[in-house]
Amino acid sequence: MRTTVAIIGAGPAGLLLGHLLEKSGIDFVIVEQRSREYILSRVRAGVLEQSSVDVLASLGLDSRLREAGLVHDGIYLQYAGTRHRIDFKALIDRTVTVYGQQQVVNDLMLAHDALGSAVYFESSGVLPRGIDTPHPSVDFVNDGVEFTVDADFIVGADGFHGVCRTIIPAGAITSYERDFPFAWLGILANVAPSTDELIYALHEDGFAMHSMRSPSVSRLYLQVDPGESIDDWSDARIWDGLHTRLGVDGWTLHEGEVTEKSITPMRSFVASTLEYGSLYLVGDAGHIVPPTGAKGLNAAISDVAMLGAAFTAFFAGDRVPLTLYSDRALRRQWKTQYFSQWMTDMLHTSGPGASDADRAFRHMSQLGQLDYVTGSEHARRGLAEQYTGLPIEGL
Ligand code: FAD
Ligand code: DHB
Repeated sequence: MRTTVAIIGAGPAGLLLGHLLEKSGIDFVIVEQRSREYILSRVRAGVLEQSSVDVLASLGLDSRLREAGLVHDGIYLQYAGTRHRIDFKALIDRTVTVYGQQQVVNDLMLAHDALGSAVYFESSGVLPRGIDTPHPSVDFVNDGVEFTVDADFIVGADGFHGVCRTIIPAGAITSYERDFPFAWLGILANVAPSTDELIYALHEDGFAMHSMRSPSVSRLYLQVDPGESIDDWSDARIWDGLHTRLGVDGWTLHEGEVTEKSITPMRSFVASTLEYGSLYLVGDAGHIVPPTGAKGLNAAISDVAMLGAAFTAFFAGDRVPLTLYSDRALRRQWKTQYFSQWMTDMLHTSGPGASDADRAFRHMSQLGQLDYVTGSEHARRGLAEQYTGLPIEGL
């Protein structure tokens, strides 16, 4: 089989890149190890930056998003029992849209169905070859048949645990990493959100957040220790923690049937390059952030927007944007890393093992920081600018 761009991974990054290439008339094949149903069942991100919405709109992939997405003009920051609104719209005239990653992926998949795109789900033995040559290929097995796809380029859109980053020779890539001493316990619940906009709360017991997926589905998170098992968290214990950490006078958190619960570790990771020979990395394959601030999915979308534009230029005769891709994407990524780390550090209590004195100092300085951020228009504007999404270079 022959194509121009072989994409590995059918998460949001791989599926979106396919649409950008299709729009420019560039051939592609997508090879994915999981089933379509499995990918659609993974509960992950929920907030789209305005820049991400714009990318989807530029491809005409926003009709369901416009119907079902919830446009939010701001967020609430909560600490010391008080809730403060950060009004993005009033501050910088930008907004975010609450629309689940599963919904984004479903929209992208349905649009690929309509195009009849070559997407090989449930592939095994996926192996890119010849990435240090101009004639790379990908081997895989699908439905018992062995395939080799010859391509001009390979794109690793295969997430943090994928194969593509691992085949870059060790001497050509460095990893920058930070592990956080806490994790997020997340639930989905069949209950109307108890808030109009997302609440990020610092409490002495730990961080808590109230998000949503629709007018009848709430998404809530609790900071827990990284070693915790979900089996030790009954629904009653989770709701208890949420009431304590999110509660303020005169407000009620409504409970509902919990339909999904899981614990996710928190980690920062950035690869030193997103390019090696004829291989390019996008999304979680190249970098991950702790979830506070909702940047993972958005960073995948901004990478893909830049790489899609670079491929389009390349096949129109301009090679320069492709040579700039890795640097441009990493420059934006490091700003995103800084923001995610800043939000995470501001809103989480010390992890296990911290002394009482360190724990108390951290908490008091966080209260000072939150007082500053909510009280200073300069700080609020900075938060608003980063939360709603920094510009995407080269578009
Ligand atoms: P992925 O979505 O990981 O897609 C990669 C795809 O590649 C997968 O379908 C995988 O099956 C496939 N693949 C892997 N290896 C191979 C292989 N060898 N061959 C073929 N295919 C392969 N972000 C937020 O902003 N907010 C959140 O609340 C949030 N919650 C998260 C919760 C969890 C549990 C996780 C893991 C991530 C979360 N994220 C969140 C991050 C966000 O979901 C990711 O940044 C986003 O999914 C990145 O998209 P991607 O397409 O790059 O990678
Ligand atoms: C969600 C996740 C986040 O990490 C965040 O900062 C906001 C919302 C969510 O899953 O809805």
